[in-house]
This record gives sequence, C-alpha cells and structure tokens, in this order.
Amino acid sequence: MSSSLKGKKIVLGISGSIAAYKSVFLLRLLIKAGAEVQVLMTEAATKFVAPLTFSTLSKNPVHTEVVSEESWNNHVEYGLWGDAYLIAPATANTLAGMAAGICQNMVQAVYLSARCPVFFAPAMDLDMWVHPATKKNKQTLEGYGNQFIPVEDGELASGLVGKGRMAEPENIIAFLERYFNKTQDLLGKKILVTAGPTYEPIDPVRFIGNRSSGKMGVAIAEAAAERGANVQLVLGPSVLDVNHSNIKIIRVKTAEEMYQASVAVFGEMDAGIMAAAVADYTPQDVSDIKIKKKTPGLTLELKKTKDIAAHLGKEKREQQLLVGFALETNNELENASAKLKKKNFDFIVLNSTRDKGATFGYDSNKITIINNKTERLEFELKSKRAVAEDILDHLVTYF
Ligand code: CTP
Repeated sequence: MSSSLKGKKIVLGISGSIAAYKSVFLLRLLIKAGAEVQVLMTEAATKFVAPLTFSTLSKNPVHTEVVSEESWNNHVEYGLWGDAYLIAPATANTLAGMAAGICQNMVQAVYLSARCPVFFAPAMDLDMWVHPATKKNKQTLEGYGNQFIPVEDGELASGLVGKGRMAEPENIIAFLERYFNKTQDLLGKKILVTAGPTYEPIDPVRFIGNRSSGKMGVAIAEAAAERGANVQLVLGPSVLDVNHSNIKIIRVKTAEEMYQASVAVFGEMDAGIMAAAVADYTPQDVSDIKIKKKTPGLTLELKKTKDIAAHLGKEKREQQLLVGFALETNNELENASAKLKKKNFDFIVLNSTRDKGATFGYDSNKITIINNKTERLEFELKSKRAVAEDILDHLVTYF
C-alpha cells in the first residue's frame, strides 16, 4: 500500500540531542515513503551527527544558520514549501525558543515562517520533560495548533529510565501518515467534551454513581483531536487513559467539579459536546466519617445537581455550538426532542437502552441525531469510534 507521505514535502528540523542519530533513520524512512525532505539543523545538532549524512540521504543541502558565510538562507521559502514541518528531535531548548518566538537559527526561523502544520517529536531527560517550564512551553505550542508526537518511555542517555525518549522513527512516520490520511476538517477548532460518569460522595468510602464508562466521550475527543481540533476533555471517574497531544484532559469526580471545569473553559470554545452521564442528584449532606449500619433502614436526602448542558445552552454565543446526548429507555424521540429545545442544543444524539450492543460499557453504539432543523438522522450499530466520526461529520456542517 502506498504511504500517505508519498509526494509530500517535509521540512525536517533537527535540534541538539543524542536522539539526532535516530533522525538519520527517520530521514531514510521518509524518503522510502516517497516524501521529499529538506533538512535543517541547529548548530548543536551538527555536533551529534554531521550535516553531510543528512544532505547525502536527502539529496538537498542542509541549512543551519539564516545567514551563512556564502549566503542568506531563505527561511520564508522553506516555511511555504513544506506540507509539514517536523522537528525531531525537539529539545527543551528548541521548544522554549519556539514558544517564545525566538529566531536565532534556521530551525527557529522556519518555524516562525511556516504556514504548514508543525509536529514536534521531543527528546529530553525525564525531569526536563516533566518540568513546569517545559509543560508550559508545550501547552503554548499546542495552543498555536502544533502537534506533539508522544514521547516514549525507556532508558535515557543519562542512564535514567522514564518518559522523554524521542518516539521511534517508525512511530513518527505512522503519526504523520495518520495525519495525511485524515481530513483536518476541525483544524484549529476548540472543542469541549464532557465524558464519563460522576461520583457523588455519601461518606468517605461510598458514592452514588452510574454505569457510564466514558468510552463514547473519549472516542469523540480522540476523533476530534485527529481531525485537528484542540480538545478540552472533562472526564469523570473512568479507567480510560487518553494520550493525544491535541487533547487536554481535566479529571473530575463530582457533578459540581464537572460543572466548574466545563463552565471555566466554555467561553473560549467553538463547540461543546456533552457526552457525560452526569448525576442528576447528589446527597444533601456528605458524612465526613463512614456511616455505620446502626439502623434497619437508611434514608438519603438528595438535592439536584447543576445542569451543565442547560447552563452552557444559556451562555452559548451565536457562533458557538452545543451538542447534547439523551439516553432514554422509552418515548425516546419525544424525550430527546424536548431536551434539544430545553437545553438549547444545536443537535442531540439519542441512544436507547432498548438497542442491543449499544450504550453503557459496550464498544459499539447505535444513535439517532435530531437537530434544531427538526431533521432526524438514523445510524446503524457501529463501533463508538465510528459513531464519533458520524457525530463530528454532522458537527462540521455547522461550522
Ligand atoms: N447533562 C449535564 N448536566 C447534568 C445533567 C445532564 O450536562 N446535570 C447533559 C448530559 O451530558 C446530556 C444531556 O444533558 O448531554 C441530557 O442528559 P440526561 O441525563 O439524558 O437528561 P436530564 O436533563 O438529566 O433529564 P432526565 O434525567 O429527566 O432524562
């Protein structure tokens, strides 16, 4: 099968890390996949691997400085030429420079001039990777729409073991191929996704919860991220893990925490997708010690939680979109249509517990979309990931 990198123009920026030796293999794989590659190196990178290695393999001269002895290297030209700018390895220093908009060498200058999507494959020691300064720089760069190819776990050049290794060349290639395979129809859109159940505490050891696994919401977050969106995932207690550089995850437990987290970010969003199964009621009083079974019966007094979706529906500005879910056991269409209106959704995704293989805990789902134009779209039972793509396909028609 031909690679989606075939015929693509890739600018490969190499900064000064021992992982630069892996970029030789990376370059070979890019060429093998049919890409055309222009290599740029920082001065520090040239200490690890000679530019001659890269110029021989890429059949293009390697540039380091914007102004070299014999010429001025046109960074704008490379910024416009590339279909993607891949910085691999990206050191802590290079990330910091780019986050700050510093322009001291060719790798940085092309970054500022690049109109194409930018990918970072960071490489550094584990303490550097988890340092708040690096985290902040990564966040800043992600805020500019740049994508991070996840670092890998393992032995580091320092002898320490942990996260910080540059992704293996094959994985970087796979990441880029996925990108070029996919339509980036949500590029730059900011999307809030709520997902999972909420746990409402009764006492320090007990809670009221529900059977939501978070799978549907996480599938939406991942699909949106791969289509280029910057996703803010507010996830209730779920065993699921999410690892995508376009997804920022806020873990919450209670409906109140989910409300606070969602309200805090919604103002900046282009859309909100409310896939969480939020508890409607929470205990009126939470015992701070474990409740003992002294009485033959126990009555818990519950109070209503805040309705996150309804609140966002009220706050929603004209150009913002809000998508709701309705899980129903009976009178599905009427109930869902009523919720669509009441919560001011642009469209609502209806699931019924009557459909086999759908809803809580399953990997598949069967949905009906009802929108504010009173259209009804029915879908077949499919994987939650495929359902997520259907929901996003409908969402993009509004943008
Ligand atoms: N929702 C929410 N906050 C709540 C309750 C619900 O954001 N406190 C959202 C859900 O994420 C979903 C939609 O509202 O997108 C509908 O949720 P659902 O529980 O089906 O509706 P309710 O309003 O709770 O109505 P009911 O329980 O009476 O069916």
